[in-house]
Amino acid sequence: MLAVKRIALTGFMGVGKSSVARHLAHALGCERTDLDNFIEESENRSIVDIINTDGESRYREIETSNLERVVADETVRILSLGGGAWTVERNREMLKNNKFTSVWLESSFEHCWMNIKFSRKVRPLAKNKRDARKLFDERQKIYCLADWHFVVKPGLTSFHVASRIMEELFL
Ligand code: S3P
Repeated sequence: MLAVKRIALTGFMGVGKSSVARHLAHALGCERTDLDNFIEESENRSIVDIINTDGESRYREIETSNLERVVADETVRILSLGGGAWTVERNREMLKNNKFTSVWLESSFEHCWMNIKFSRKVRPLAKNKRDARKLFDERQKIYCLADWHFVVKPGLTSFHVASRIMEELFL
């Protein structure tokens, strides 16, 4: 019997959730969904536009209603969340109730910040290092609530992270 049926990856912006999810899904030959991409397609707007125009709290409502649709689709076994989705209690419950094992990809702030800085993805909630650091510090205790956690050391590729997760969780 499979130990784990569905995996939701959480962690701070820039830690590599989407890339790790891609490798996991490839290794398992299954579907993966990136919540941010799903939101942009279903809302037909960019996340940057939603947050900058409607504000973060409206964005969180939109995020939750889209997450509801994603978890209801049982073909989705690998899910990468946006870094703030896990901070909402209702989302955490929804994931648990829908048989997702949550995995926190943990890394240092400096590692995440380097990736944020050099990424093409625009992150309206991490416009500068000070704001990003504050969010990072506030969220650590919430990411800790994940079922399982994996420390992403700098230099470890997302392929290796995915392989280690596979070994540990024995999908
Ligand atoms: C956010 C993270 C982003 C995206 C949005 C808000 C956050 O996703 O959902 O900009 O609050 O941490 P990534 O974690 O993939 O960057």
